[in-house]
Amino acid sequence: MARHAETLAVIDLGTYRCCCLIAEVTGPESVEVVGIGSRRTDGIRRGVIVNLEALVGSIREAIEQAASMAGRSVETVVATVPAAQVRSFTSRGVVTISSRDRVVGRKDLERVLATVRAVQIPDGQSTLHALPQEYTLDGQEEIQDPVGMTGARLEASVHVVTVPRQAAQHVVSALNRARVDVAGLVFPLLASAEAVLTREEREQGVFLIDCGGGTTDVALFERGALWFTGSIPIAGELITNDISIGLRTPVPDAETIKRTHARATPGGDEDLPLEVPPIGGGQPRLVASSVLTQVVAPRVQEIFELVRAKLERTNLLARARAGAVIVGGTANLEGLLEVAEDALGIPCRLGVPMGVAGLAEDVRAPSFATPVGLALWELRSGRPQRAQDGVTRIRKSAVIGGMRAMVDSAQRWLTGMF
Ligand SMILES: Nc1ncnc2c1ncn2[C@@H]1O[C@H](COP(=O)(O)OP(=O)(O)OP(=O)(O)O)[C@@H](O)[C@H]1O
Ligand SMILES: [Mg+2]
Repeated sequence: MARHAETLAVIDLGTYRCCCLIAEVTGPESVEVVGIGSRRTDGIRRGVIVNLEALVGSIREAIEQAASMAGRSVETVVATVPAAQVRSFTSRGVVTISSRDRVVGRKDLERVLATVRAVQIPDGQSTLHALPQEYTLDGQEEIQDPVGMTGARLEASVHVVTVPRQAAQHVVSALNRARVDVAGLVFPLLASAEAVLTREEREQGVFLIDCGGGTTDVALFERGALWFTGSIPIAGELITNDISIGLRTPVPDAETIKRTHARATPGGDEDLPLEVPPIGGGQPRLVASSVLTQVVAPRVQEIFELVRAKLERTNLLARARAGAVIVGGTANLEGLLEVAEDALGIPCRLGVPMGVAGLAEDVRAPSFATPVGLALWELRSGRPQRAQDGVTRIRKSAVIGGMRAMVDSAQRWLTGMF
């Protein structure tokens, strides 16, 4: 019987495009992409599923494309949920260490997480992740991993990431109707973080900003943990709409003009004439590229001012000592980093996936941070520090053709979630 390397299948359900990746595991920290399927997403508007059947069609096409490139079939996937729908908050759990020697064990960490999972989830929401931030043992604060330490009272500060139960159900239904099982659902920024952030950045404090199609999403990582998530309903699709209205051109032409000529700041050859196809057909008009910048720049400015306002409101700006890392398709806009740095007052860099081989040239771009990160998340989520995470239990189930029992346990997890 032919032996296949361990293979993972993931799908990022973005508001702009569905992207399926099939990846072979090449090491404890790395994958090789062997199949990519990507197409425009139908049926999701600003992070909300508005047409399930249309979404099923998009998923099916993305998966078939990736499967045919990889020469494999896909039975089970790990998927993202739309970030716009995700909420998160920090909660605390407390347990008494019951063993006679009072030494903290992994079981105690699971127990304290279970106390957090069991309570305080707002009505209609389901827990996607419960991620420990730090522990306090008998009053001793800021412990990263208390296993092996001695004490009587263990407290955990936990960041709980939730999604409306109905939204999660719709994602699972769409994937099931596209004839794949769901091994797990992941918050997109947690996935992207795996692909683009360095360990140092996560320790020192960094904002991960995903400027995609429908929404711009933000997360703060510090001391190796997640502390904040937020979402703004403005991103690339609105910029395309602005161009369509401002230059009076059909949306598909506005998209092409944006990708080839748009800038987030004035610069380049301002008088360069652009050919702009008019709405309703006819000869293209010539428009100076400065007119395009006048449409695009204020919108990009607005996005990052809204991000700053959100972070100022929560007093978080000073915590990102390593600055911000920006991912998502809209991050390709020339001059966007400059606008972000000005608005946020911190150093910003583009986030390009690391730890990936194979079709690496195709995925080494900010718009592939989430799908590549999903594969890495699946691969790495067995690490000891994540042993308490709800998603960890289903790790192996994402392996195509993996043990059936694992898949069954994933289905049980999903059932339990709802
Ligand atoms: N070269 C480029 N220049 C400017 N914009 C681009 C470029 N390439 C892609 N985009 C824009 O990026 C957006 C899509 O980004 P991405 O693929 O990250 O979105 P998504 O993950 O589907 O959406 P979301 O994360 O908001 O749910 C689109 O608006 C697209 O026009
Ligand atoms: Mg996205």
